[in-house]
Amino acid sequence: MHNHQSQLPTGSGKAVILLACGESALCRQMQSFLHQDYHIIYTESCADVMRLSGSHVPDLILLSVHHDCDGIDVCAELQKSFFQKRPAALMLFGPDDDELIDLAFAAGADDYIREPIHWKLLHYRINFLIQKRKAEIELSDFTSRLEQTNRELKDFTYVVSHDLQEPLHLIRAFAERITKKSRSVLDEQGAIYLQRIEKAAGRMQGLIDGLLQYSRLTTQAQEFVLVDLNSVVGEVISDLEVRIDIKKARVRIADGLGTVEADPLQMRQLFQNLVSNALKYSAHDQPPFIEVFPLTFPQNIGRGTLCQIVVKDNGIGFDACFQEQIFGLFQRLHGRDEYNGTGIGLAICKKIVDRHGGTIAAHSSSGKGAEFIIVLPVRQKKGK
Ligand SMILES: Nc1ncnc2c1ncn2[C@@H]1O[C@H](COP(=O)(O)OP(=O)(O)O)[C@@H](O)[C@H]1O
Ligand SMILES: [Mg+2]
Repeated sequence: MHNHQSQLPTGSGKAVILLACGESALCRQMQSFLHQDYHIIYTESCADVMRLSGSHVPDLILLSVHHDCDGIDVCAELQKSFFQKRPAALMLFGPDDDELIDLAFAAGADDYIREPIHWKLLHYRINFLIQKRKAEIELSDFTSRLEQTNRELKDFTYVVSHDLQEPLHLIRAFAERITKKSRSVLDEQGAIYLQRIEKAAGRMQGLIDGLLQYSRLTTQAQEFVLVDLNSVVGEVISDLEVRIDIKKARVRIADGLGTVEADPLQMRQLFQNLVSNALKYSAHDQPPFIEVFPLTFPQNIGRGTLCQIVVKDNGIGFDACFQEQIFGLFQRLHGRDEYNGTGIGLAICKKIVDRHGGTIAAHSSSGKGAEFIIVLPVRQKKGK
C-alpha cells in the first residue's frame, strides 16, 4: 500500500484521521476524497491502530471490520486506553453487516457509515464527530480546571483559618497575662487599649471559627441519610432554650416539615443559624414570635419532589434590596455594636442548601420581620 505512514503529524492545522482499513481500493478512494480537508494516515492492520495513536492521538479513527481489521475490538481497546480524550471512532460497515451495528456501539463506536459510501454523508459525519470530540475535550479540561480551583480554594480557607489560630492564641494568651500580672503598671489609657485588644482578638476568634465551620461543610461532610426535619428543628429549639427564655420568645413549629435525604449535622446547622438570627434580630417593642412551617403548593415538576420550609419572624427585618446580598460571606446589615456576629451564618446556610441541590431565599422589608424559604429535594440524585 502506498503512502503508508507510521507517524502521526504534530502541529498541522488539519484534523487528523487515522484510517484503518484492509481493503486497498476503498482506502485509496477515501484517501483521495478526504485528503484535502484532513490529514490522513492509514494502515491496513488494526493491530497498528493502538501503536499509531499512542503518542499523538488522532481526532478520529475510521475503522473497517474486514480482512485484517477488526474495528470492533479496536473500539473496545480505545475505550480502555483513552477514557475521556480518546479519538472519535467511526465504523465502516459492508452492506451486509447489520448484525455488527449493536456490537460496535456497545464497544464504544460513535457512529457508523456503510458501503456503498455516500460521500457527502461521510464528510458530515466526520465533521460532526470531530467537532463533538473537540467540545467534549474542552468541557472536560474546563471541568478539571474548575475542580482544581475549587480544591485550592477549599484548602486555602481551611489552611488559612487553621494557621491563623496559633498567632491569635498567642495574642490572647499574652493579653490575658498582662491583665492578670501587669495590670498595676498600666495607666487608664493602657487598660482601655488592652481591653480593646482582647475584644478584637475575641472577634477574630469568632471569624476564624466561622470560616473553619464554613470550610468543613465540604471537608467533613457526612453521608446523606433520611432526616426528619421536625426532630432536627425540635433539637435546635431545645439547644436555644436559654436564649428563647431570656428573650421571652414564642416558637411555633408546624407538624409535617417532612423527611429529606440529607446530611443530618448540616440540617441542624441550617436551622440553628436561621432560628438564632430570628432570635437575635428581634424587634425592640415586642417579644419574638418565630414560626417554622412547610409550604405545600404544587411542586416544581421535573426537579423531583421538593420540600419547602419557611422560617419566619416578627423582628426588625431588613430592606428588600439586601435579600440576596445577606447570603454572601461576611455580609452584615446591622451594626456590630448593637448585634454581634460574623456574617458567616447565612453563607453557611447557602452552602448547605447548595450542597443538597436546594435553594434558600429571604423576604423582608425594614421593620416588618423576615421570612426565609428553604427548598430541598426530598431525594438526592445518585452519586452525590
Ligand atoms: N432574621 C433576620 N432578621 C433581620 N436581619 C437578618 C436576619 N437574619 C439575618 N439578618 C441580616 O443578615 C446578616 C447576615 O446574617 P448572618 O450571616 O447570620 O450573620 P450574623 O448573624 O453573624 O451577623 C445579619 O448581620 C443581619 O443583618
Ligand atoms: Mg447569624
